[in-house]
Amino acid sequence: MKPYVVAVFNQKGGISKTTTSTNLAVCLAAAGRSVIVIDLDSQGDSTKSLGIDPAIKKGIYDLFIGGAEIADVLIPTQFNNVRILPSTYSLAGIEIKLSELKDSQRTLVNILAHSDLDSDFVIIDCPPALGILPINALAASNAVIIPVTATPYANDGLLRTLPSIKYIQESLNKGLLLQGVLFTINDRNKTNRKINELIRSRLGGTVYRSEIPRDTMVIEAASARLPVCIYAPKSPGALAHLDFTLEFMDRHRDIARRINVEIEATPNRDSIIQVLHQWRDTQSTTVDKPTDARVREGGAKLDRLLYGDHTPLERAHMALVHFFIEHRAWLLALIVLLFVTTGLLLTVGFSSLRSFFNF
Ligand SMILES: Nc1ncnc2c1ncn2[C@@H]1O[C@H](COP(=O)(O)OP(=O)(O)OP(=O)(O)O)[C@@H](O)[C@H]1O
Ligand SMILES: [Mg+2]
Repeated sequence: MKPYVVAVFNQKGGISKTTTSTNLAVCLAAAGRSVIVIDLDSQGDSTKSLGIDPAIKKGIYDLFIGGAEIADVLIPTQFNNVRILPSTYSLAGIEIKLSELKDSQRTLVNILAHSDLDSDFVIIDCPPALGILPINALAASNAVIIPVTATPYANDGLLRTLPSIKYIQESLNKGLLLQGVLFTINDRNKTNRKINELIRSRLGGTVYRSEIPRDTMVIEAASARLPVCIYAPKSPGALAHLDFTLEFMDRHRDIARRINVEIEATPNRDSIIQVLHQWRDTQSTTVDKPTDARVREGGAKLDRLLYGDHTPLERAHMALVHFFIEHRAWLLALIVLLFVTTGLLLTVGFSSLRSFFNF
């Protein structure tokens, strides 16, 4: 059977696309499924996170330009059942290379169609922004997952991402399914909760029940170049990624059932945790615990990514939007006040004009 190909995509950067891709991959593998990760980002973050050095000779770039066969590029990782088509630094130059080719938006479709990928799942980690690489990913996928963080800028990313998916569905890939929207890096404050509720009320059942909390263990794991589900399988971040994987598998099963395809039942949560722990134990001698300073630096970088380096005017605008999200009654009062004031000004202005011109 052909693998189920899933792109992890949001045009916004730093909202956990790579973290979602790699943790989903190891959890699926720990659940006994075979997985291939395609790292389509020249930063090579998922390649590094799965223990491969992006300085290796051959990668996805070579497949795109027709300089290698899948068998030359596909490599095993240290996790049983997870293989990767890695990114190499040369991937940064792919836009120019592909612009010289015909049908460049379907290059990955053709690569996957002509190779016998012996795998249950293919997970594509997309770069931020809608360039030729994410277009290729979406054109070649059965489904897409959109990670999103409930920050004031979340809508920004969603508003750019949803139309791009619609464009692909209407042009390159009519079968592309939006499997779901996943809340990641959840900061549990009131404003973020409101934004979360707003997005949930707008997108309904498309949003997964599982949410990934903000957890410093995830940053530590990234510094140690491991998915958090391996680095700290008991941490809240890891358990949330595992619960998301189970929900993802259930959704996949339900969707397949609608077209009369029966998929193996989702395994028991505890058995998956056990495998993750075994993998963790094989790492314990090699894991290099990152320093506190490095983790703090990661947290500060994350804050900049999520909340941005914005101009004072942009920040004031956002603060006002927050205020009104949290105090809707004030917004209503302000609108009524504006109406009454405008009405009064018009009446006064009109009667002054009447008395001036005496009509
Ligand atoms: N649940 C979490 N809690 C805390 N930090 C997290 C969490 N998920 C991801 N991060 C951190 O956020 C940063 C961005 O995550 P990640 O690299 O997965 O995002 P991305 O969307 O792939 O970014 P890019 O757009 O640059 O590819 C990383 O430092 C990662 O360790
Ligand atoms: Mg990434």
